[in-house]
Amino acid sequence: DGAWGPWHPLLLSGLYLLGMFRRRRPGEPPLAKGIIPWLGYALEFRKDTSEFLKRMQRKHGDIFTVLIGGYYFTFVMDPSCFGAIVKESRSKLDFRTFASKLVLQVFGYETIEADHTITHASSTKHLMGDGLTVMTEATMENFKKLMLFNLSSGEEKRVWQEDSLFHYCYNIVFRAGYLTLYGTQPHQGADNKEKANEQDRIHSNQMFHEFRKYDRLFPRLASAMLPSKDKIEAERLKRLFWSMLSVKKSCQKDNISGWISDQNQLLAENGVPEYMRDRFMFMLLWASQGNTGPTAFWLLLYLMKHPEAMKAVKDEVDKVSRENGQEAKPGSPPINVTRDMLNQTPILDSALEETLRLVAAPVLTRAVLEDISLKTGSGTEYTLRKGDRVALFPHMSVQMNPEIHPKPHEFKYDRFINPDGTKKYFYKNGKRLKYFNMPWGAGVSICPGRFFASAEIKMFVFLVLSLYDLELVNREEEIPAIDISRWGFGTMQPVRDVRFRYRLRF
Ligand code: HEM
Repeated sequence: DGAWGPWHPLLLSGLYLLGMFRRRRPGEPPLAKGIIPWLGYALEFRKDTSEFLKRMQRKHGDIFTVLIGGYYFTFVMDPSCFGAIVKESRSKLDFRTFASKLVLQVFGYETIEADHTITHASSTKHLMGDGLTVMTEATMENFKKLMLFNLSSGEEKRVWQEDSLFHYCYNIVFRAGYLTLYGTQPHQGADNKEKANEQDRIHSNQMFHEFRKYDRLFPRLASAMLPSKDKIEAERLKRLFWSMLSVKKSCQKDNISGWISDQNQLLAENGVPEYMRDRFMFMLLWASQGNTGPTAFWLLLYLMKHPEAMKAVKDEVDKVSRENGQEAKPGSPPINVTRDMLNQTPILDSALEETLRLVAAPVLTRAVLEDISLKTGSGTEYTLRKGDRVALFPHMSVQMNPEIHPKPHEFKYDRFINPDGTKKYFYKNGKRLKYFNMPWGAGVSICPGRFFASAEIKMFVFLVLSLYDLELVNREEEIPAIDISRWGFGTMQPVRDVRFRYRLRF
């Protein structure tokens, strides 16, 4: 078969599958295949997504197609196209093709047609509107259970306690969220209530520690780059979570949230077997707990590093408490933060939004199911090719864009509000932008838990600032760098923790 020379048909089709013969067609964005067949730029992309995309943008402009692990991804950096992408009909751009693969790989859950609708319906009912009031009350109870159980005021209790800020925030926010969503230890009679509370504290803490193990493996697990030793550990943890969060176990809990119980019931009605529902519960734990704690950490850290911001937020918190008849002062009962109170905090809202602008960095992906054309802000039209993926990385293209947010690396707690507390508008090239901060994604795949997430984080910060004086152990300590291996997965984490101390204010 020497006649074929090196071009054996099998080799040709192999190379074809590896994407070697792809050519840029007229009207398509610039194409970068890299030099490694199939993998393309996978390694560089994973190593430091933001750096890689910055380099590509400098070279190719605001829209370009890159080969990453067998898929051609067209990255769109021009925010004026975002609406067209995130709102395009599912028959043309589908976000689930990609999400289902990830969910199977990481959580072992096999998606069904209805589950996205089920999650969004339950979230609309329980994590927004009236349902959110119920959830806010439950969250408050759990925060109290975790933060106030050993409080008794008086001078002798006003000693400084030292801790690591990332661990402290992640631990408490995770546990409060977990108990609120997945339920608490049942008890009979008031006598056993304290015992049940103690059980909740112990159990949620164990849960947190296992969760953090999975959390650390997550980026490499999701990009299929785990060494085999870690793969075994990931597999063990996955099974542990399926079992700890199982539908059977949750039936025995009290106060299980409507968000969890409705989704379980609706999935069952759609024929999803019990063992798959256990896995679904694991996915929900991940989605609901992986970002709130780290966000709370960054928010408190930025406040501690910016005294004028800390003062503004603290003054607002105290003012809202006072106006709601709950002044924080010596001898007063511990504060009870209500949903109403959380609606009266424009400064805290802006500080949270600013934090998310800096540290929330998801990559939003859609599968291109039909050739479609996309018009950029400058009027050029591009074709997106069927079978490709289209992706947005708003952290780089809008959140850190100096044309939209001047001095983007600086934390400005009031960046998102006018002096009168109303929300600010944002512009690029004189045009008002709809998408200027996208921590929650956008369009059909927008985070359905965003209102609950904000409520949890704000409530935590509200409580901490009302209860404690807090400061960094080393005032001069720099804000730690972010761990670049986590680009694309939501809220970033720091490369190291930061020591701080706190003591009761009164
Ligand atoms: C600061 C905290 C949070 C951030 C930054 C965040 C961000 C996101 C992002 C970026 C997505 C994916 C968007 C996409 O792929 O286009 C997402 C999805 C999701 N989030 Fe959140 N989230 C947070 C907290 C929460 C909480 C507290 C819950 C639930 C209680 C939640 C539930 C979900 C669910 C269920 C999905 C998948 C939705 C679907 O299947 O379409 N998230 N979140």
